[in-house]
This record gives sequence, C-alpha cells and structure tokens, in this order.
Amino acid sequence: MNTFRLQFRFLAPLFLVIAATAYLTVPLVDQLSLRWTVRDLNSRSQLIANTISDNVFDAVTSLDHVRLDSIFNRLIMDERVLGVGICDHDGQLSEKTAGFPDGISCSVADAVAKKSSPTLKLTRGSVHIAVEPLDRGVLSLGELILVHDLSYAEKRGEDTRRYLILFFVILGSVIALITVITAHLSLRGWVAGARALMRGEGLLKPFETSSPELQPLAQDLRAMLRELEEERRSRESPQDLWTPEKLRDLLHADLRGDEVLVVSNREPYIHENTPDGIVVKRPASGLVTAVEPVMRACSGTWIAHGSGSADRLVVDSNDTVQVPPDKPSYSLKRVWLTKEEEEGYYYGFANEGLWPLCHIAHVRPVFRVSDWEYYKAVNQRFADKVIASARTDDPVILVQDYHFALLPQMIRERLPRATIITFWHIPWPNPESFSICPWRAELLRGMLGSSILGFHTRYHCKNFIETVDRFLETRIEHEHSIIRLDNRETLVKSYPISIHWPDEAEEASWPSIEDCRSELRQRFGLSASHQVAIGVDRFDYTKGILERANAVERMLEKHPDMIGKFSLIQVAAPSRSSLDEYRYFQERLLQRVEEINQRFGNESYKPFILLAEHQGSNVLTRYFRGAEACVVTSLHDGMNLVSKEFISSRNDLAGVLILSQFAGAAGELPEALIVNPYHVEETADALYRAMTMPEGEQRERMRNLRTTVRERNVYRWAGHMLQDAARSRRRERIEARLLSHSENC
Ligand code: G6P
Repeated sequence: MNTFRLQFRFLAPLFLVIAATAYLTVPLVDQLSLRWTVRDLNSRSQLIANTISDNVFDAVTSLDHVRLDSIFNRLIMDERVLGVGICDHDGQLSEKTAGFPDGISCSVADAVAKKSSPTLKLTRGSVHIAVEPLDRGVLSLGELILVHDLSYAEKRGEDTRRYLILFFVILGSVIALITVITAHLSLRGWVAGARALMRGEGLLKPFETSSPELQPLAQDLRAMLRELEEERRSRESPQDLWTPEKLRDLLHADLRGDEVLVVSNREPYIHENTPDGIVVKRPASGLVTAVEPVMRACSGTWIAHGSGSADRLVVDSNDTVQVPPDKPSYSLKRVWLTKEEEEGYYYGFANEGLWPLCHIAHVRPVFRVSDWEYYKAVNQRFADKVIASARTDDPVILVQDYHFALLPQMIRERLPRATIITFWHIPWPNPESFSICPWRAELLRGMLGSSILGFHTRYHCKNFIETVDRFLETRIEHEHSIIRLDNRETLVKSYPISIHWPDEAEEASWPSIEDCRSELRQRFGLSASHQVAIGVDRFDYTKGILERANAVERMLEKHPDMIGKFSLIQVAAPSRSSLDEYRYFQERLLQRVEEINQRFGNESYKPFILLAEHQGSNVLTRYFRGAEACVVTSLHDGMNLVSKEFISSRNDLAGVLILSQFAGAAGELPEALIVNPYHVEETADALYRAMTMPEGEQRERMRNLRTTVRERNVYRWAGHMLQDAARSRRRERIEARLLSHSENC
C-alpha cells in the first residue's frame, strides 16, 4: 500500500510536468510550422513572378488576352494557387483569374503583403498574398498579385498537433511504467539488503556485487542504518550496566573469541630489583589504570616496553610473563629498547614533541630529526612484535596512545584483515597547532591505518577530522565521522574512558571513612578537625599544580580564618624527570610551595604539603576517603581518571570534586565545581566553597557523580569500541565472501 502511495506521489507530479510541457510545446510547434510555410510561399511566389513576368509583360503590352489567360490558367492549375491578378497604376484589379477571392482588392493586397506574415483570413479559409512588381527597365505595368491557399498548411498543423499530443501521452506512460518497475525492483533489493544487514550479514548482492549502479543507494542505506544503530545505542538503558562478565560475553558472542592484542608503551606491571629482592610496581598512568581491568576481563596479550630493572629476569623465552602476579589472567609480552631508542622515541619525539603539541600548556614542542627516526624505528619494532604474536591473520589489536601513531599503518600493511582500534589518550589539537609538526602527514597516514580511531571527546574527534581534511587527500563522511584513505575506512569516534567501578567486596575491604580521615591526619601531623583537599597527579606541567598552589595562597589571603585549619596534600608521582621541561617545572613548583608555606605556615603547619612520590592505589583510595575535597586543575587533559577514582572511593556520598574545565571529564561530570585553573580567584573561591559546602549539597552532587561514573565505567568504554569492531569485522567478512563469490562466478 505504501509503495503505491509512494509511486503515486512521484507519478502525479510527473504527469503534471508532462502535461505542462505539452501545453507549452504544441502552440509553439504550430507557430513555427506556420512561419516556415509562409517563408516557403514567399520564395515560391517570388520564383513564379520572376518566371512569368516577361511573358505577362509582353502579353499585356501587345494586348494579347489569349496568351495572358493561358499563362494565368497554367498557374492556377496548381491547386495551392488560388488566383493571380494584375493591379494597374490606378490601383484597379485590371486582370484576374477565375476564382480570384472576392475580398482581395489591390489596396488590401498591398496592405497584407507589407506584413511580416502576409496572410489573410477569409470566410473560406486563410490565404497567403504576394505582390510582385510587373516592370521591365523603366517601364512599369503595375503589380502582379499571387494568392496562395493556406488551408493545406492549417491541416498540416492540425495533424502535427495531434501527433505531438499522442507522443506526449506515450512518453508519459513509458516513463511511468519504467518508474513503477524500477521502484519495485529497488524496493525488493533494499528490503533484502536491510534484512540481511539485520541478520548481521551486511549489505548483500542487491548493491555490492550485481548492481554497481546502485552503489550510491547502498551508501545511503548504509548511512541510514548507521544512524539507526547510533540511535539504538543512545537509547541503551542505563540499567544495562557494563561489567567484566558482559565484556567477556561480548568477546565470545560478537567477536567469536577472536584474539585480542593490546600495544602500549607503558607496561601494566614493572619488575624492579630492590635490596629486598624483585618487587612488582604499578605505574602512575591513566592508560594503565583503564586498560588493565579490560585485559583482565578479555585475557589476550599485552605488548609493552619492558622498562623495569628486573623485567628481563622474570620473562620466558618469548619475553612473556603472565600477569597480574597474584592471579594471572593475561600475557604481558615485553619489547626491549636500547637507551638510545628510549631517548629518541619515548623522551624525544613522544614526550618532547607530541605531548606538548597535543596539550595546550604553553610548552614548546621540540622536533628533532633523530628523534623522529627513532620513533619510526621503534614503531616498526612494535609492529614486528605484534605481527609475530598474532596467531590469526585477523586479530583485534588495541593500539594505545601517542607513542604509536605510525603503528596502525605498519600493522595494516602486513595484516590487512586485522581490526585495529587505536585509542588516543591525550587531547587532539586544532589543525593550526598540529601543523607545526614537520611530519604531520606521515603521522596522520599512520593513524588512518586503524579501523577505529578513538578519542575521549567529540571535540577531539572534530579537531582530528579537521586536521586530516587540512593536510591529507581523503574522502570524509562528516555525518558519520568516517575517513576513507586508499580504499579503507576509519571510523573516528569518541569513547570517554573511565575506571573499573568497585564491587561490593572491594568496597567492603576499604577502611571506614573515619579511619581514613584520622590516618591521613595522623600521617601529616594534622589535628582531627583539620580540613584537607587532596591532589593526585603525575609531576607534569600539564596538570596545573602550580596554579593549584596559587589558588591555595589566594584562598588563605581571602579567608585568613582558614590559616592553620586547611592544607592541600599533593601527591605528585615523579615522571619523565630526565626532560628539562619537567625538571624546570618541578623546581619552580618546589620553590612556589616553599614560598606559600613560609608565608602562611610554621614548623608544624604547612598549607601545601607536597609529596613527590608515587603511591599505590590502596593508599590513594584511603587518601581520597579521608579528604574533604579532591582538586583536579589540569591545564589540558584528555580525560583525567583521578577525578573518577575520587568519586568511586566516596561511597559515603561526601566530599567535593573541584575539576578543571579543560579536562575531558568536565563534560561528563557537571556536578563537580568546574573551574578555570588559569583563573586564580575562581579556583580559590571553589576551594573555599568546597571546604564550607553543606553536607546535603555534597550528597546531592556526589550521588549524581557516582551514578554517572558507575554507568560510564571502563567496561562500557572497551565494550563500545569492541562492539564497533565486531560490526566492522562482520561487514568485512561478508564483503570478502561476496568478493570471492563474484570472482568465482
Ligand atoms: C599519560 C599518557 C599515557 C602514559 C601516562 C604516564 O596518561 O596518556 O600513555 O602512560 O601519561 O606517562 P609515562 O610516560 O610515565 O608512561
């Protein structure tokens, strides 16, 4: 029924257009054919006049009426010539043939002949009149009048009109018929394709193989289905909580237990030699915090730089060790780097080049050719390791972060069927900022070897797509964030990263809030009522620790009653300390902290307590639980997981989060006190507000924050990426089958 309505909607205007065209065309053709006839008769009359004028002249001058009649009678034997006559100098019709039309006098003939279309309508029909001079040298006998019958032309016009109308009717019917047939066939194809896609088989024959001319339709349908899929996902019930089990199920059901390989620079477990023997350390890394629980759930292999002093001592002959040490569930395969490689690739290109390039923290990126060479070489080393580790030719590979921009394309060249998901854990700058990198095109091309390219926020995705648009020749489907390069497509999408949400058993293992509070205060020699804000970061210039110190100073200036009653405890895990920028920053911060502590503190009181040390997650949970507030003032941050860890630790619904507007997390956590860390006044006020916030308001804010982080946990992050990967694998498998099928045919 719908089909008919649709067709009617299309056909009705079509018929209207055809009728209008006919209505305009028919009179036009009529006029044209009359004009051509008149033109013919003009020249015909002239030709007749030229032919007979001498004989007529002689007959008239010799008064030979018999000869004149004979000339005229021969002429009117032509059925189109109605009459011939002669007008003398007095304007009298001195001679005329029998049947010469009555209504045509010499004056009428003269007047008509002067018109551009010398025709006259008489009662018996239309006539054409031509007036030609009848003279020889200077002697003139008057004018010769030739009258042609036009009714034959009118008849011809009528016939033409009839044929034209018939032609339009047939044309309309043929177009309508073709439309109806095509619509039926296309609809059948669409329905078949859509059904196949719903069954998870992609868009089949109707478009892909047998009808290349329907490719544009296929693309439209694909786009429509993607939209539907996105809509379905946005409707995903928040009650459908992502858990390790759900992620495992997804792997087995949708990815059919396919192999998962993770590649990152930083390893999740570092084995270090100490005087007490080998100890295992966990690095301070948001990436590790997020990916590790995912790997526990998925098993598979994690390939990373073996950077610990005892790393080589614990691996097997494949450079592999099973982790986590207390409950092994996946393999950690280590890649060994020379000191030079680490200097050039990690410290140099990644951390002196790409890190400041992607973070707007006013530190100049440094790009050295030698670092770039190491970066390329180490990316190739990791690519080789991935390829050697893959047991199948289509593994799922999760490439992590800015250390490996070239890796996706390197892997793609050797494992074209692999599903490569690259996640960029740091911000992506705008095209202007990125343009300063001398190897921008190579980096972008390398990243576009990925099947899926993930960023924390849509804003970073938009920046990336604009950057590609600016510097590479690609086809971009903006509506669906898809970039096509060399016949391959990369989906660019935001997947906000998160943390593992603690289960009841874990929560039960935590000390009570009271214990955490008193433990924290005791450790730093503070009174039981002392108010504490906590900051936990790597010792990095992007984290806004200096700005945080300035805010503490300003708050104490504005609220002297807080002096002696408030401290900010800052845990700053040493990081990349061999780089100049980091050393300068660390020195500047130490100096600033000293100034503030001298100004407001004393022997037993420090308003800013700086711990330049790394703390394990257990200790940090206690600190978070024991503090009144957590302060995150990053100048620029991809996401910032500390903010989410603080929220997860506060099952008492108390505590206030102060969060930089420049951290990706700000978009998800509006119930935090959002600040601009460059605005000292604002940050100082937020600190004071946090210390004085009524319990009710704290609970209200914290409840919402906890719901968000619990639902948007790290399994959801990985789950959404793997779901997209599964979908793209299904499509690729079907396409490969279709290709081999069409080759066999
Ligand atoms: C950021 C990066 C991670 C990195 C972490 C720690 O979070 O996105 O890739 O692991 O910093 O830095 P590091 O250089 O010590 O690995």
